[in-house]
Amino acid sequence: MNINPHHKYHQNNISKTVDRFRQDILLDLGSNPKKLSSKYFYDKIGDELFQKIMNMESYYLTNCELDIFKTKTAQIADFIRPNNEPFDLIELGAGDAMKSSYLLQYLVDQGATFSFMPIDISGNILSVLKNKLNDSIPNLEIICLKGEYFEMIDQATTLSSRRKVVLFLGSNIGNMEYEQALQFCSELKDKLSAGDYLLIGFDLKKHPKTILQAYDDRTGITASFNLNLLKRINQELDADFDISQFEHYQTYDPSTGACRSYLISLINQQVTIGEYQIPFYENEAIFMEISQKFSPEDIHDLARESGFVTVTELYDTKKWFMDAIWKVS
Ligand SMILES: C[S@@+](CC[C@H](N)C(=O)[O-])C[C@H]1O[C@@H](n2cnc3c(N)ncnc32)[C@H](O)[C@@H]1O
Repeated sequence: MNINPHHKYHQNNISKTVDRFRQDILLDLGSNPKKLSSKYFYDKIGDELFQKIMNMESYYLTNCELDIFKTKTAQIADFIRPNNEPFDLIELGAGDAMKSSYLLQYLVDQGATFSFMPIDISGNILSVLKNKLNDSIPNLEIICLKGEYFEMIDQATTLSSRRKVVLFLGSNIGNMEYEQALQFCSELKDKLSAGDYLLIGFDLKKHPKTILQAYDDRTGITASFNLNLLKRINQELDADFDISQFEHYQTYDPSTGACRSYLISLINQQVTIGEYQIPFYENEAIFMEISQKFSPEDIHDLARESGFVTVTELYDTKKWFMDAIWKVS
C-alpha cells in the first residue's frame, strides 16, 4: 500500500485539532460557572449564520466599519504605507474579508507591493474568501493561514521578513475580557517590529437598546448561531445535546460596556460527550461570548498599556465605531 506522507500529515493535524476542541469543551463545561469558547462558533454552518448576522439591519457593526473602509480607503492606505515599501498585510480572524476587500482593491490599484495573509481558525471561511478574492481582485497575492491567531502570526513571520501591517476588524478584540485583551495586544506588539502597524476595530458604547438589539434579533439568527455550537459538539464529539432544551439569553450592562450571551438549560438534564456525563440544572447558564463596548478613553488606555503608539483614529459617520491605527515604535 502506498502511503502519501502529506495525507498522513493532514490526518495528524485534523486529529490534533479535534483533540484540542474536545479538551477545551470538556474543561469549559466542567468549570463552574459553565462556559464555551466563541472561537468554536465557526464551522461551515456557523460561518453561514455569521454572514446572515452581518446582513441584519440591527447588526450595525458591519455597516459602520464598512463606511470607514469605503470612504477612508486612501487615508488608511497612506497611514499604513508611509514609505511605499513592500509589506505583508495580515488580517486576524479575516472571515470573508468583505470590509478589507475595499482596502485590498485600492492597494492593488495603486501598484502597492504586498501579500495578503488572512488568518482564520475556520478553513471553510478561508476557502470562501480565497474564491471570492481570486474572482474580484485577480492580481492579489493571497496566502491563507488556517489556525489560531498567534500560531499563524509566527508562521507569517517565518514565511516573510517584510514589514507587517495587521488588521483586526469587526471589534473581535471585544470578544475578550479587558485583561485578556490587554495581554493579547501586548503579545501582539512583542511579535511585531518597530515600524509595523496594527489597524484595530472597536465597537463604541452607545444607547443600550441599540446594542442589545444587535445581539438579540427577533428572527432568532443570533440564537441559532449560539445553539449551533451545541450541534457542532454533537456532530464532532459524539455528544447528545437536545438543542430544544437550551435557550439563548443576551444581556448588556451599560455601566461596564459588557454585552454577554448565554445559553440557558430549560430543564434538569444530563448530556453525554463521548465517555463523559455533564449535568445541567434547570436555568443553569453556559456563558458563550462577551462583545465588549468601548469608550475612546478605554481604547487609549489599551494602546498605552500594551505599548502601542496611536497614529490616528477613524470614525464612521454616526461615530458608532472606531478603527484605530497603532504603531510599534
Ligand atoms: C466575528 S467574526 C469577524 C470576521 C471579520 N473580522 C469581520 O469583521 O467581519 C470572527 C472571525 O474570527 C475567527 N476567529 C475567532 N477566533 C479565532 C482565533 N482564536 N484564531 C483565529 N481565528 C479566529 C472566526 O473563525 C471568524 O471568522
